[in-house]
Amino acid sequence: MKEALDFLNKIVSFQSVSTDPRKEKEIFALVKILKNFLAKEKFKVKIIGKKCPLFIAEKFVSSKSKTIGIYSHYDVQPAEPLNLWHSDPFKLTIKNGKIFARGVADNKGPLTQNIFSILNLVKENKLKNNIIFLFEGEEEIGSRNFSFYLNQALSILKNVDLFFLTDVGMVKKNVPTIYYALRGIVYFEVEVWTGKKDLHSGVYGNLVYNPSQILCEIFAKMKDLKGKIKIPDFYKRVRRISDKEKKDLIKNFKNANEIKKIAEVYTLNPLDKKYSLISAKIYPSLEINGFYSGYIGEGSKTIIPNYAKAKFSIRLVEYQKPEEIIDLVKKFIKNNIPKGIKYSLKVLVNAKPFFSDFNHPYIIKTAKVLEEEFKNKCVFMREGGSIPSAEILMNKFKKPVILTGFILEGSNIHAPNENMDLDLFEKGILVLSKIYNIDF
Ligand code: BES
Ligand code: ZN
Repeated sequence: MKEALDFLNKIVSFQSVSTDPRKEKEIFALVKILKNFLAKEKFKVKIIGKKCPLFIAEKFVSSKSKTIGIYSHYDVQPAEPLNLWHSDPFKLTIKNGKIFARGVADNKGPLTQNIFSILNLVKENKLKNNIIFLFEGEEEIGSRNFSFYLNQALSILKNVDLFFLTDVGMVKKNVPTIYYALRGIVYFEVEVWTGKKDLHSGVYGNLVYNPSQILCEIFAKMKDLKGKIKIPDFYKRVRRISDKEKKDLIKNFKNANEIKKIAEVYTLNPLDKKYSLISAKIYPSLEINGFYSGYIGEGSKTIIPNYAKAKFSIRLVEYQKPEEIIDLVKKFIKNNIPKGIKYSLKVLVNAKPFFSDFNHPYIIKTAKVLEEEFKNKCVFMREGGSIPSAEILMNKFKKPVILTGFILEGSNIHAPNENMDLDLFEKGILVLSKIYNIDF
């Protein structure tokens, strides 16, 4: 266990922030650490791509054994705002039974668990299945090259019988959870120019358009305050989820007070009467992720800005197609921008939703081991977050992709003070050893 924590300590010290081009060196250095470490443990390593490469490491046991592909990502989100961290985000800190650092939950902790679950089996001479680690470096920026990189390793990957992804959590501590659905995502950046410079709001108020107003109106037309998306045809492909499924999901999920406490929000937004608590799991959603326009410095400045910019993203559920949604949004913005106004709309991320059959025999076997180890019934859940690689792997190789993991909801992924439960970090390694040694 100490070795696993030392390893995690080492890898969190590299600021592998994929969205920040200034962090390229940190990423190379981290990949080198992974390479040296696994090569020493007699894995065959292959590194594909230049910028945020895909790292592959193989351990072959026998041609009679099944081959398991184990996915993790080594890139992380930016640590900012730094002043809200209680400890250095790039140094492992253990406090009150939790490990703190950027990426410790998403996804370097689980990556470490994957490595050590296999190393422990190797050490005891017990490893039964062939193992192929796939460590991605672009997950947090939408896995743009993942499919392309996989194509360069087809000769290795064609042998994989099933994939595991442990970039997810448990609904509650020690309640093992398998995720059978993830939402997809399309992410946009929109800019509006009404002219070349800011203008005096007294001299020009009423005479010219205000770019901030234009974006506000567009957003208000796109979605109402409750969360219903109003872009024409947006829900066209969304299918009704059965009441049985919704009831199962809500039964296993948190209640309103638990959600409020974890999220530290003052109130919840009821999208519908019955299933609002699981609305981030079962419905699509649209969120403005950032908005900028005009003057927000000290005091007052009476201007009409000439420019506004916003970032917004849409989470998609099964059967919705990112390309189709992108077209609907393009059309919507074009139709709702006043004539003569300049604008640009860019698509930054595009990932399909993931939806799988949770009655597959490999999943049943995995659930059984999870139940034995945690002494609790395994919960089958949907996740509102996105992991583009899950759908890409499933679609490309037509093999089961099983999602399970040990991150708790209060782990602050993407936020300050990201953490992982120390018990679950340790227990997870033991449990994964059992899972990866199943006779599939
Ligand atoms: N680990 C998360 C996905 C996740 C979120 C799992 C919540 C469990 C609970 C993953 O690293 C992530 O953050 N994905 C991004 C993908 C996007 C940038 C394409 C996301 O969902 O925003
Ligand atoms: Zn993430």
